[in-house]
Amino acid sequence: MGKRIGDFKVLKNSRLNQDHFILELLSPDSIEDIMPGQFAEIRIDKNKETFLRRPFSFHNVDFRRNKVEFLIQIAGKGTHMLSQIAPGEYLNLIYPLGNSFTMPEKGEKVILVGGGCGVAPLLFLSQKLYFNGVTQDIILGYRTRERIIEYTKFLEFGKVYVATEDGSEGFKGFVSNHPLIVDGKYDRIYCCGPEPMMKKIALIAKSKNTFCEVSLENLMACGMGVCLCCAVKTIKGNLLTCTDGPVFNINDLEW
Ligand SMILES: Cc1cc2nc3c(=O)[nH]c(=O)nc-3n(C[C@H](O)[C@H](O)[C@H](O)COP(=O)(O)OP(=O)(O)OC[C@H]3O[C@@H](n4cnc5c(N)ncnc54)[C@H](O)[C@@H]3O)c2cc1C
Ligand code: FES
Repeated sequence: MGKRIGDFKVLKNSRLNQDHFILELLSPDSIEDIMPGQFAEIRIDKNKETFLRRPFSFHNVDFRRNKVEFLIQIAGKGTHMLSQIAPGEYLNLIYPLGNSFTMPEKGEKVILVGGGCGVAPLLFLSQKLYFNGVTQDIILGYRTRERIIEYTKFLEFGKVYVATEDGSEGFKGFVSNHPLIVDGKYDRIYCCGPEPMMKKIALIAKSKNTFCEVSLENLMACGMGVCLCCAVKTIKGNLLTCTDGPVFNINDLEW
C-alpha cells in the first residue's frame, strides 16, 4: 500500500512511570502492511515549536482490530505534549516509514536485546517472530527495577531475561555484559537502545561473526528522505536513517 497519511483516534493514553507512556490508536484504514522496525511521523498540533513531526517506532500492532501502540519516553516539548493527549482526540500520522528487521532463516536461534525505551520496536518484532514459529531469547536492560517497562508483554513470545545496572532485578550490569551475550551462541541478534549499548553489542557480534541488526534513532526532521539531516556513515557511503534505515546491519555501519 505504501506510505500514507491518516488521522488515528486516540483510544488510550496509559502512563507507565514518570517518563514513559503508551498511546493506543485506532487506524482509519488497514494496517496489514506495517512491518517490525518501521516507524510513523506523528504531527503534534497546537504549538509552533513542534511544527516538525516526531518519529516513533511501532511498538505493538493489532492487525485484527486495526490498532497500533507507541511506547514513548518524554524527552522534550513534543513528547510532553503527546503525554497529555486524551482519548477521543486524533493524531495525524505519516506511515509506515523506513525499512524493517529482516526475518531469520528457518531454525535459526535468535536473541532480542533492548535497552530502556529501545524495547519499543522489539515487542512488535518479538510478536512477529513468535507467529513465524521462531524460538527467541529476549534480554531487556534497565537502570533500576523501578524503570522496568513492558517485561510481561514479552513473556508471551519468548524466554525473557532482565538486566539492571544497579542489580535491583535480574543480572547486575549492562545487557552487553550479560552471560547470554558474552558466552551465548546465536545466529542473529536484533538490538535497539542507547547508541553506546548498541555499539558494545555490535562489537561482540562482530567478534563472533554473528549477524546483527540495530535500529538507529538519529535526529530526524522530514522522515522521508528530503532534508538529509539523518545521514549516517556506512561502508556504502552516507545513507539516510529515515529511508535506508532505521534498521541497519552492523557490518554496514562505520562503528
Ligand atoms: C526511527 C526512530 C524511531 C523512534 N522511536 C521512538 C519510540 O518508539 N519511542 C520514543 O520514545 N522515542 C522514539 N524515538 C525518539 C523520538 O523521536 C524523540 O525522542 C522525539 O522526537 C523527541 O521529541 P521532543 O519534541 O519531545 O524532543 P525535542 O528535543 O524537543 O525535539 C526537538 C527536535 O529533535 C528531534 N529529536 C529529538 N530527539 C530525537 C531523537 N532521539 N531521535 C530523533 N529525533 C529527535 C525531534 O524530532 C525534533 O525535531 C525514535 C526516533 C527515531 C529516529
Ligand atoms: S529525516 Fe529528512 S532525510 Fe531523513
